[in-house]
Amino acid sequence: MHEAQKLHVETFRRPALHTVCAPGRAELLGNHTDYNHGWVMALAVDKAITWAVSPRSDHRVELVSTAFPGRVRFNVEDLAKDPEAPWADYVKGLLLELRRAGVAFAGFNAAIHGTIPLGAGLSSSAALLVATALSVRKLFPYTLTEAGVGAIPERDERGELPRPTAAEKLAIAKVCQAAENRFVGVNCGLLDYLSSLFGRADHIVILDFLTLTADWTPLPHEVAVVICPSGVQHALVGGEYNDRRRHCEAAARALGVASLREVDVAGLEAERGRLAARDYACARHVVGENDRVTRGSALLRAGDVAGFGQLLFASHLSSRDDFQNSCPELDALVECARGHAACLGARLTGGGFGGATLNLVWRREASEFQQHLAAGYRQATGRELESWVCQAVDGAG
Ligand code: GLA
Repeated sequence: MHEAQKLHVETFRRPALHTVCAPGRAELLGNHTDYNHGWVMALAVDKAITWAVSPRSDHRVELVSTAFPGRVRFNVEDLAKDPEAPWADYVKGLLLELRRAGVAFAGFNAAIHGTIPLGAGLSSSAALLVATALSVRKLFPYTLTEAGVGAIPERDERGELPRPTAAEKLAIAKVCQAAENRFVGVNCGLLDYLSSLFGRADHIVILDFLTLTADWTPLPHEVAVVICPSGVQHALVGGEYNDRRRHCEAAARALGVASLREVDVAGLEAERGRLAARDYACARHVVGENDRVTRGSALLRAGDVAGFGQLLFASHLSSRDDFQNSCPELDALVECARGHAACLGARLTGGGFGGATLNLVWRREASEFQQHLAAGYRQATGRELESWVCQAVDGAG
């Protein structure tokens, strides 16, 4: 029995009616491009948040999690933040957005178990939001129109609720983003939710944030993706993330474009004089990332994994020097990775300011690489490293 189901039985004295799982994500290439309407290559990873849920006959919600002590209890009519249990604010924020969309729901019990390391830049919060949205969908079936309005879903010929379509997944991602933007206060883009929903086993998902479409390319089997959590917590809520976003938007305004998607590397250089120094540096990162994703997907499709790996190193330097969303621990991990012959590329993954690095290494030497990195990281920072070879898995839903 899954941990979440066990916890449900222990806490609520009966089995859960549904189990819903949403994976975390790793950003392979394309950093801070999502809210600039650019491109990202990502994976849904084999670490997830699982909900075991059952309906209640009243309007109360009870949440219990293996990661936090105690139970969180609230009424669906009273979705106020609670400083005692900030993790539950994500659930409440999501419920508020569903209500705003016109989705009807009542109370429920949920037991939650996660394997995504918290604060490691692997989007545990996005997985929590996606799992909430899909759990509510199971308990109180709804669909969302393209305009984000709740409606009664069609059933299949056996009367069952079909899996969400691509359009529904996109609408769910937007509801999750609204919850994080409005209720939690981080102006993040759609990357984390779309990766958790559109990931595909053994594939990289390539997301286009202007057209809001997904494409997939196989992850070459001869390479492994090694994730290295630095142990330094990222501080998205602390305002650094929103600050970088403001610089990008200021750069787009100064260039007279709707978003940095419309600018290429040469175009940015030509207009450099029109931009304030920080706006330019942030724009250079984003425009460079878009260029690297475009070149990178072509290289991968042509089988040039070594060429692709070089773009990961370039991405990290751009984060470190231009966007300034790295930190000494992430830099130490990347430098140490660069010193191992099996490493094709390494970079910080996700928002930055702590979190994890992502390393592309020859699969047959992955475990030797992990040992090399653990020793190097201990020497450089005194910290222990628990890296893992991540598998790309199917998205939620
Ligand atoms: C965080 C945000 C995403 C994205 C990445 C950086 O994960 O939640 O929307 O901006 O950072 O690419």
